[in-house]
Amino acid sequence: MDNMMKIGNIRCDELLKACGSPLYVYDEKQIEEKLKEYCTHFKSERFASDVIYASKAFTCTAMLKKLIEYDCCLDVVSGGELFVAKKANFPAERIYFHGNNKLDDEIVAALEYGVGTIIIDNMYEVDKIIHHSEELSKRVNVLIRINPKVEAHTHEFIMTANGDSKFGISIDLKDEIKLMIKKIQNSKYLKFDGFHSHIGSQIFEREAFVTAIDKMMEFMAEIHRELAIELRVLNIGGGFGVRYTQEDTPTKTSLMCQTLITAIENACDAYQISLEKVCMEPGRSIVAEAGYTLYSVGFTKKTQTKQFAFIDGGMADNIRPALYEAKYACDVANKMNAEKSEKYEIAGKCCESGDIIIHDAKLPKIETGDILVVYSTGAYGYTMASNYNRLNRPASVFVKDKKARIVIRRETYEDQMICDQEEIILK
Ligand code: LLP
Repeated sequence: MDNMMKIGNIRCDELLKACGSPLYVYDEKQIEEKLKEYCTHFKSERFASDVIYASKAFTCTAMLKKLIEYDCCLDVVSGGELFVAKKANFPAERIYFHGNNKLDDEIVAALEYGVGTIIIDNMYEVDKIIHHSEELSKRVNVLIRINPKVEAHTHEFIMTANGDSKFGISIDLKDEIKLMIKKIQNSKYLKFDGFHSHIGSQIFEREAFVTAIDKMMEFMAEIHRELAIELRVLNIGGGFGVRYTQEDTPTKTSLMCQTLITAIENACDAYQISLEKVCMEPGRSIVAEAGYTLYSVGFTKKTQTKQFAFIDGGMADNIRPALYEAKYACDVANKMNAEKSEKYEIAGKCCESGDIIIHDAKLPKIETGDILVVYSTGAYGYTMASNYNRLNRPASVFVKDKKARIVIRRETYEDQMICDQEEIILK
């Protein structure tokens, strides 16, 4: 029996031989299935719907081209993410521009490219965006980001809608929100479309989303009554949980979509409002499980109570275990059928004791040269990677039907030195 794991029908050892190690591998079919599921099930006969991919989860031109194929929209939160979108020729009107502190040059770049919608985070931004839209004579639709104050169970660092969140304006500050709307309505180039909320990330409870939807819709009905304005759009953000380990029990995408759609339809009836469009913004759930990281094992060692396996990457290519205590599952890709008789600490190569990717991994006996595969690394792995200890970022490869193509090449030391210089600028 062949003991070697395959991704997209290609053996992992062949992938490493062709592309080097460590390596981010994406199973394109898995990404496509997710996109198809979201686009098929996030639909209603009563309003239009946009599936907006949150590019912070993983972005490169090949990924964005795939989104174009599936008619998805795109969430960008910075000039850098917008730059990638431009490189991929992403249709500007399908871009939603986020961020809690948009810089002037980012706003100008977004307006110049013609992004369809800017999500305004605070009063300060209203003024800035009005100013730039007038200077450039550029129209843009806007949503206001509301913090609906729904606490969902997730890691504190990725929770975004508790009472003290830095994001959006609290649903309690209705007068300030009305003032923002008035300013937008009085401006020449901005069109007020409605509201946005995002309650956090890696959330499993469907109830949390339903509660947020209900609060937002009740709020929209109040604003509609009090200001006598039409509210066309509700964007309910992303945050749908995925499976990293067996303990994670995500809701099926189709069921999640149906739950959200039903909650919005019910709220339309309950609060007697009609919407033209609803949007959601999944990031992680589209790419996480499609992504695998392959590492080569170097030394293994036994300490008093533990057994370590050293990999040729670590916290530089996956900061999530160190940052969020995130848990991952792994296998020895060249020993898929062997008995899992041992326990290992999977340790990275960075000079940091906390650089342990997985604790207590049950695995077959590991030897130098084995290939370790870590599952569900497709989201927030590459995009949060660093050059700590001057490690090069790994390449990303898309695999499908026995074909592999590099979509982000491996960094080189020369790449890392591109900005290194000595130049006197003040004297
Ligand atoms: N929309 C907004 C406004 C967001 O802030 C986010 C994520 C998303 C959508 C997409 O959420 P997703 O579906 O990917 O959960 N670095 C962290 C996650 C931070 C998420 C930030 N915002 C992690 O590695 O877990």
